[in-house]
Amino acid sequence: MEDKEIIAIKALDYVTDNSMIGLGTGSTANFFIKHLANKIKNERLNIQVVASSTVSEIEAQRNKLNLIGIDTLETLDLYVDGADEITNDLNVLKGRGYDLVKEKILAQSAKKFIIIADHSKRVNRIGENYPIPIEVLKSTWRLSKKILDKFGQGSLRKNAAGDAYAISSAGNYIFDYSFDEMPLRDLHEKILSSPGVIETGIFYAITDCALIVDNGHIEILSK
Ligand code: 5RP
Repeated sequence: MEDKEIIAIKALDYVTDNSMIGLGTGSTANFFIKHLANKIKNERLNIQVVASSTVSEIEAQRNKLNLIGIDTLETLDLYVDGADEITNDLNVLKGRGYDLVKEKILAQSAKKFIIIADHSKRVNRIGENYPIPIEVLKSTWRLSKKILDKFGQGSLRKNAAGDAYAISSAGNYIFDYSFDEMPLRDLHEKILSSPGVIETGIFYAITDCALIVDNGHIEILSK
């Protein structure tokens, strides 16, 4: 079994009956969705789920989970998602899957937010391996770019086929930006205070726990 599946199964330890669970996006999150569905079936649990993206919505439907719309959600017990980068102090970079604002709102609303990741995602500094994804209003993206260009360099993300710009399921464009080094909190706040910016892929100080796997060996980082 590959590491991503091992760590997705480990996250089932945090699943309780009669709860509302948020489903993350990506290959690790997909393993969690599959094994959550098996657990619910085998143990006859009463669990509702909410999706963070079109991809996780499709996975939830394929696995016949009891899916509710994010627009009706008022409380969330648990949110489990993957990551692109994670530091030892539990700051996280996400967003290869476009849906930054939905992923972030579920992460921050959940009573418990757990990251599941393999060892390759560990970094000393957010932005070490990937640019920072930034979800922006589509209609004013050129103006937002001019503002962001004052302290960074980046461009609009293309879709997987490379024939159009990527659009989040909330209908926004995504930039990928590199910035000069500055404290993460300052960077996050500076990006967020730029007009037209909806959300960034920096998940600053909101992760409760990270389950990390390295060749089958599991490490748990907690707040
Ligand atoms: C989506 C994400 C993913 O969680 C992240 O890209 C990790 O993906 P994977 O589990 O496929 O490595 O942030 O927006």
